[in-house]
Amino acid sequence: MSAPLVLGIETSCDETGVALVRGHELLVDAVASSVDEHARFGGIIPEIASRAHLEAMVPTIERALTTAGVTLGDVDAVAVTAGPGLVGPLTIGAAAAKALAIGLDRPLYGVNHVIGHAVVDELVDGPFPERVLALVVSGGHSSLLRIDGTVHVTELGSTLDDAAGEAFDKVGRLLGLPYPGGPHIDRLARTGDPDAIRFPRGLTAPKDQAKHATDFSFSGLKTAVARWVEARQDAGEPVPLEDVAASFAAAVADVLTAKTIAACRREGVSTLVVGGGFSANSQLREMAAERCAAAGIELRIPPIRYCTDNGAMIAALGSAVVRRGMRPSPLDLPVDSSMPL
Ligand code: KG4
Ligand code: ZN
Repeated sequence: MSAPLVLGIETSCDETGVALVRGHELLVDAVASSVDEHARFGGIIPEIASRAHLEAMVPTIERALTTAGVTLGDVDAVAVTAGPGLVGPLTIGAAAAKALAIGLDRPLYGVNHVIGHAVVDELVDGPFPERVLALVVSGGHSSLLRIDGTVHVTELGSTLDDAAGEAFDKVGRLLGLPYPGGPHIDRLARTGDPDAIRFPRGLTAPKDQAKHATDFSFSGLKTAVARWVEARQDAGEPVPLEDVAASFAAAVADVLTAKTIAACRREGVSTLVVGGGFSANSQLREMAAERCAAAGIELRIPPIRYCTDNGAMIAALGSAVVRRGMRPSPLDLPVDSSMPL
């Protein structure tokens, strides 16, 4: 008998994602994005995102079904992001998922978006070993997770202030780059000198009051970049954008990879999964590849389209939850904008 067909719905931010997964196989991943509608505001406007999800939901579900060559009747279970995320957008995804679950008389599974960013890797690189560490880095989160049996998650650390992508976007704004600044800084950094400016690495000194050994902090680094740039401007000197970008990106990648690899060693884990939109970052990818190779750690980073928000991550996690026979969610499943792991 073939594995259950799971339809996954993701609407936590500005991407409407609908995907179909059977076992570890991705049948289709349909995404509609409202990112362009937010660009002129320099950040996501929740009301605009909610309206866009509402308009895109039914066409995206239809597109996913047609592309996969299945009908709604073939769907065995419905998975949806229950949080964390923007409450309006989450509510629209949950309403669609509940309507499908009720209409089709199929179980509903509310799942955690952050865990989905890691588990989507199973669709690309195959089933997880019994225990993996996952670094989930995006505009909304920077978390280090230990994952046992694909679905049991322990948070080993997270950011105490800005997420990695958020710090890039804020530094992008202060350098006068368009929103979101992350990819622009990455592009500039490629031609800059990462050793030109020694920016601080947050939360690395023993006196730092982190909750966990692998907590991160990027707001001090962001302030250090702002001060450095202001000092140059006050002195009437040009700001070497490429060097600032490269040195800033190096500081972020250094902290993320050093702490993550130390955690792998501490936990005795030999597989690291990196997910979330920020895993597109070149310096993070390069440093993680080098340092994992040196430490004998297998590094799994899915292709970028599965690192940014999408339905495949939710369908993958839903499929794992269904496979393990976990209990479905109630049909009045609440959404939780700050859902814990
Ligand atoms: O996962 P994602 O698409 O949305 C969130 O859930 O946040 O992540 C987007 C974040 C943004 O902050 C964006 O600037 C950042 O990831 N980002 C990058 C790069 N590509 C995307 N930051 C640095 N370098 C990149 N190449
Ligand atoms: Zn995300």
